[in-house]
Amino acid sequence: MSLNIADIRREYMLEALDEEVAGLDPIAFFKKWFSEAESAQITDINAMTLATVDANAAPHARIVLLKGLDEEGFVFFTNYDSAKGTEMSANQNVALAFYWKELERQIRIEGKVGKVDEAESNTYFQSRPAGSKIGAWASPQSKKITHRNILDTNYSKYEAEFSNIDIPRPPHWGGYRVIPNHIEFWQGRASRMHDRIVFTKEKGNWERHRLAP
Ligand SMILES: Cc1cc2nc3c(=O)[nH]c(=O)nc-3n(C[C@H](O)[C@H](O)[C@H](O)COP(=O)(O)O)c2cc1C
Repeated sequence: MSLNIADIRREYMLEALDEEVAGLDPIAFFKKWFSEAESAQITDINAMTLATVDANAAPHARIVLLKGLDEEGFVFFTNYDSAKGTEMSANQNVALAFYWKELERQIRIEGKVGKVDEAESNTYFQSRPAGSKIGAWASPQSKKITHRNILDTNYSKYEAEFSNIDIPRPPHWGGYRVIPNHIEFWQGRASRMHDRIVFTKEKGNWERHRLAP
């Protein structure tokens, strides 16, 4: 089977992005774009690529789900003992990327990551469906397992163990918050002449500039 990958291309024509629309507060502008993406009924709207760097400076990227956003930063949940958890304890510099293809928009976020407090992790964990809660206990995320059966056996074990009690949050599972110092909004334009508006945090204040595409 031959793939004609090089010929895959499209024009981005939907909209323009200018400084006036972007405003001066990138968190407020992120919320505006997010709610526009909600209105456009984009699937997996909160799926974002999380890039981390390990102790040998090698980068690793995977998708996680954005679960909260406030003036401080962007929150997601995972297994603290996973590969990404180990990488984030070695190096707090991370990057996030969203791509909402139906709107021809990308958002890139860079900053420092840290664990959220236990109360915040507990509150979110308790909001999850029971199956996901048990899954958090049953999966030693990122560890090698010899067979799929191990997961099913673990799942049944924890399901039985927690059958009559509220499922507690595992100590190895919780949230991280990315405190941004760099946020870029990209709007696709015709002939690859895209709009890129970037906010960088300088001495506690957001500064805005435009980058060539
Ligand atoms: C759409 C989507 C959403 C995901 N959301 C999460 C998430 O919120 N938390 C998580 O730990 N893994 C999530 N994953 C799985 C991760 O991409 C990854 O496989 C897992 O976290 C292990 O990564 P690691 O070995 O680099 O730590 C998601 C994957 C996809 C495709």
